[in-house]
Amino acid sequence: MIFVTGGAGFIGANFVLDWLAHCDEPVLNLDLLTYAGNLENLARLAGDARHVFVQGDICDAALLARLFARHQPRAVAHFAAESHVDRSILGPGEFVRANIEGTFCLLEAARAYWARLPAAEARAFRFHHVSTDEVYGSLRPEAPPFTEQSPHAPNSPYSASKAASDHLARAWHRTYGLPVTISHCSNNYGPFQFPEKLIPFMILAALADRPLPLYGDGAQARDWLHVSDHCAAIRRILVAGQAGETYDIGGASERTNQEVVRHICALLDRLRPRADGRSHAERIVHVTDRPGHDRRYAIEAGKITRELGWQPAETFASGLEKTVRWYLDHPEWIANAQSGAYREWIARQYGTTA
Ligand code: NAD
Ligand code: DAU
Repeated sequence: MIFVTGGAGFIGANFVLDWLAHCDEPVLNLDLLTYAGNLENLARLAGDARHVFVQGDICDAALLARLFARHQPRAVAHFAAESHVDRSILGPGEFVRANIEGTFCLLEAARAYWARLPAAEARAFRFHHVSTDEVYGSLRPEAPPFTEQSPHAPNSPYSASKAASDHLARAWHRTYGLPVTISHCSNNYGPFQFPEKLIPFMILAALADRPLPLYGDGAQARDWLHVSDHCAAIRRILVAGQAGETYDIGGASERTNQEVVRHICALLDRLRPRADGRSHAERIVHVTDRPGHDRRYAIEAGKITRELGWQPAETFASGLEKTVRWYLDHPEWIANAQSGAYREWIARQYGTTA
């Protein structure tokens, strides 16, 4: 089986569903179920013996040792992390604990297990560390996109904690020989994304007739990739990725935040028009900028395309329309995600109610 961490979160849950839709190899799924973890994301797997869910912390060394010994995984796909930049600015401590200490504990547990495997199984074992393009820092407007050779230059507590976890994963390969692969992906969007992130946040705010708050001038740019394409890339890395290698993953879909929000508004004007006949875009407002806000990310994904034959199937237009439709079609998921904790977050971050 494979051992997935953080498989009740946005990308992890999409990955588990995608994995089991493509093969019958069982998944051990360890997730702490923080505010971002949601078993509803995995409801489709109820009663499916191929999915073993354990609620627990990647910082719990004894639990990790038990899980490796009992389930004997042939690979790890490590998604578990604190993932929201704005939360890392308000409370960096949990990011250091989950992202750095958690990755350290997982690497150590994997190393102890791997060191006792028979030679052929040890050679075939993989530890895939899921990282982000944010570790590379911010690009100037005219600069070429990030590549695997770009230096780490993180600017937020979140990206600094992810950069630190990358360094640990790399070192565990170089020093101990653990067969590690690392991927850096750009901004994901799609079903089950917790509505604190730009795209679902703006869809839900528009549907609730709330303001659509762009940080600063809204001209910051991100590269966007539909989550199904990210999952396919990680599946490919687990099959054909070379130990010790890093792969950058992106959608070649660079957009400013302003463009993304206007695109969402145009889709909603068609799919869920406002009662007063005006455009949702009229609710866009500019608010105080995020401290240390990275101006631009862009990814050159040529290596994974050349070496592993991966490329995205969705365009930004097709993926965004599917995503908007998914949120329109899942009011119950939205209602449950907008729990008391979510309302507290919106009040703290934006000074408004959800
Ligand atoms: P998410 O916040 O939606 O989900 C994270 C999951 O990890 C949650 O289910 C949470 O309960 C779990 N978790 C957190 N701390 C844990 C702990 N200590 N032990 C066990 N489980 C724990 O995040 P996401 O957007 O799905 O991101 C998943 C991974 O992908 C992260 O490592 C993130 O850095 C990376 N990533 C995200 C994006 C993106 O655009 N969202 C892009 C590139 C890389
Ligand atoms: O690049 C990959 C990263 O993408 C992942 O590693 C992170 O886990 C993920 O959260 C994401 O980070 P960002 O900071 O880019 O994502 P976020 O959705 O928080 O914001 C996207 C952009 O939109 C960013 O420039 C900030 C801006 N923004 C965001 C929100 C929530 C706004 O202008 N207004 C908002 O209300």
